[in-house]
Amino acid sequence: MSPFLLTRTLPEDATDAALRADVLHGLTRTPKTLPPKWFYDARGSELFEEITTLPEYYPTRAEREILHARAPEIAAATGARTLIELGSGSSEKTRLLLESAPDLTSYVPVDVSESALSGAAEGLLADHPGIDVHAIVADFTGGLSLPGTPGPRLVAFLGGTIGNLLPAERAAFLASVRGLLAPGDGLLLGTDLVKEESVLVRAYDDAAGVTAAFNKNVLTVMNRELGADFPPDAFDHVALWDPENEWIEMRLRARSRLTVKIPELDLVVHFDAGEEVRTEVSAKFRQDRVRSELSAARMELTHWWTDGADRFALSLAKAV
Ligand code: SAH
Ligand code: AVI
Repeated sequence: MSPFLLTRTLPEDATDAALRADVLHGLTRTPKTLPPKWFYDARGSELFEEITTLPEYYPTRAEREILHARAPEIAAATGARTLIELGSGSSEKTRLLLESAPDLTSYVPVDVSESALSGAAEGLLADHPGIDVHAIVADFTGGLSLPGTPGPRLVAFLGGTIGNLLPAERAAFLASVRGLLAPGDGLLLGTDLVKEESVLVRAYDDAAGVTAAFNKNVLTVMNRELGADFPPDAFDHVALWDPENEWIEMRLRARSRLTVKIPELDLVVHFDAGEEVRTEVSAKFRQDRVRSELSAARMELTHWWTDGADRFALSLAKAV
């Protein structure tokens, strides 16, 4: 028996249905797209953890630096008794919050990756045996139903994962987060900041090829789950900066003309040589945009902290 509670809000066949719908929709339109949440099977979650240690991938280190410096201030400003973390992954940086928040009694990590959730919960409990951990396997863009833990509650969305949502998805997501907040609750939001293009592109196209493997992992997921026959080596990893939208785009580019069968969808997908599938956007922010998007969702930015090199920001917001 696990020493923590793990709730699956979606039955496995609902996850299958969501993957089928996303792949069918994304690969039959032009240009082709896939949502980034399908990167994160057990292997994808491991690859992401490896990315966070790469010399080129600065966001994790920058956010850790801010949390290290500000965790006591965050704890004092929020007085949180429950920490709800969306897209919690390994919960590695969260430890800095748990260590600085003496009033915290409950931790509710929410993630689509069950392997990441259970690994994180076991590790955390070993170090913080007094805390109630209620892990939830769920899509944070769907309506979340949360356990009735004590308030005030702090919802944390770290790592810059909000940048992986498209603008309309972000607005809907922030409105749904606002719906979770009672008076006195808060949102702690991590956002990567706009910076020099070469630094950004290198962070998403590292020399060791780990991000390329992470990107191609979505092909392996479709091969395993949908019986598809994507040859991962027939695609190149592409990372480029879109200055208009201020986001990094990751794509997979077919090296030559090719046809892929997806038996579970009764679908055959054709790729021209050089044709690309957009697999992720990673938006980069400025303070004004964070403030205005929060405000559009009826939240007010109360604190803004950056690392020493102004690469990444942590915002604290309250419901208005
Ligand atoms: N917060 C951690 C992990 C970031 S990686 C950090 O800062 O290092 C993004 C995490 O979000 C992954 O663990 C992934 O499984 C999860 N994720 C991505 N899309 C999701 C979705 N739609 N719903 C729930 N979790 C999601
Ligand atoms: C999870 N998310 C914030 C990462 C990012 O930087 O957008 C995912 C990632 N994609 C490529 N490298 C890391």
